[in-house]
Amino acid sequence: MNREVNIEVKKKIELSKRPYKGTRDLFPSDKRIQEYLFQKMRETALLFGYEPYDGPLLEEVELYKAKSGEELINEQIYSFTDRGDRLVAIRPEMTPTLARMVSQIYKEAARPLRWYAIPNLMRYEKPQKGRLREHWQFNCDIFGAPSSVGELEILSVSVHLLKNFGATENDFEILINDRHIVDDVFKKKFKLSSEQIYRLYKIIDRAKKVPSDTLDAMMTELMLEPDSKKGLYDYLEIKNFTDLFTFLDILNLSTTKEYFQNFTNKISAFNLDKYITYDPTIVRGLDYYTGVVFEIYDKHPDNRRALCGGGAYANLLEIFNEEPLPGVGFGLGDVTLKDFLSSHNLLPDFTKPDNDLYLTFQSEEGEQSAWNLATTLRQHGVKVTLALAPIKFNKAIPLATRCGARYVGFLAETEISENAVTLKNLKNSEQLKISITNISNILDFITSKDID
Ligand code: HAM
Repeated sequence: MNREVNIEVKKKIELSKRPYKGTRDLFPSDKRIQEYLFQKMRETALLFGYEPYDGPLLEEVELYKAKSGEELINEQIYSFTDRGDRLVAIRPEMTPTLARMVSQIYKEAARPLRWYAIPNLMRYEKPQKGRLREHWQFNCDIFGAPSSVGELEILSVSVHLLKNFGATENDFEILINDRHIVDDVFKKKFKLSSEQIYRLYKIIDRAKKVPSDTLDAMMTELMLEPDSKKGLYDYLEIKNFTDLFTFLDILNLSTTKEYFQNFTNKISAFNLDKYITYDPTIVRGLDYYTGVVFEIYDKHPDNRRALCGGGAYANLLEIFNEEPLPGVGFGLGDVTLKDFLSSHNLLPDFTKPDNDLYLTFQSEEGEQSAWNLATTLRQHGVKVTLALAPIKFNKAIPLATRCGARYVGFLAETEISENAVTLKNLKNSEQLKISITNISNILDFITSKDID
């Protein structure tokens, strides 16, 4: 009786085949693309001397409360209480984990420390183009580099990565700012309190994303003096480095100007200027940034969004009661990167897997030879997909094409009697019967360049 009821209940619950909202099932065709992105990320990081690291998927919520900012904590974090009564979160970003790890070893480690990781992160966001609840993020960070050179290296890594995918300055731009500028203008000049400055960052961060009346309303809430309010509007009008320097001149902020001018001189000297534009609205939503901040934007009109964000954070180690150790880094998401590459036709065709040889046999007698030949070729690095049952000639080619093989191999009756294999190049149809004991000839044939 009970069993029947259970079966009845089971029938009624329809389990969804869809993944949890905002996450992706990565089928092999999706994973091929993601692996391509990861491979270029790793290649780039290693080229600049960055070493891989990794951390746990779960962290205590306190770690993010310390400096990640209220949006992340109040709106985006996935948190729960574990069986030991600890409040834990699925990592929404990697930088706090990185800082926690660096704080354990920085005293003994050779500096600067250059580390990279490609973690998956979860944020409770409204799923839309370029924004999901789970994404993978390429993180590169440098700790303990001399001022401004670390920033330039990090910018250079991000540029190199995008160039490595075939992108140029016509496809993307780096919008840059420095939190020192905002602090100096509004804290020093307009004497805003720390609380007002904190709110001001949130307003500036949203300036381009909200309509002007919403912006006005946000400013009114800040209760700025008329002078500061005008200063803020003037600040938001700055379009480039020249405007910025004039603005700082008017406010007599010569030290800030000089510091940032030196930085921009280096940007030019290091040939990064064609990628970089000054933008006063870039301040970044995360609270730990203290200096240079930047976001990389797609220039394509149909995909005007940030694919990368980063900056300098001088004091993050202080949350572990450690000495300040300046860090700079960026995070670049796989979703936004893929959208960027697609919008500029820079994504190769990954509809098929990548295989060298699809090896078939036409009757049971061929099974053993096929197995042995596949084993030997794999020992020489050839990617062999073995048909596991006899396959007719007319079925072999479509199957080989579907598994992305460049060659198809036949072990039919004649081949078995001659101890040979027939190999066919699927691109130019060139065909050759080769003795299966002559592995070097087989290798020569299937590793030779295709002649169209
Ligand atoms: P972030 O700006 O929050 O920075 O994220 C960096 C990049 O990750 C974004 O530009 C975007 O490409 C991608 N991303 C973020 N959220 C999502 C999402 N919900 N869906 C898809 N992609 C997303 C950070 O996380 C900093 N911790 C980066 C950093 C490293 N700063 C210094 N070092």
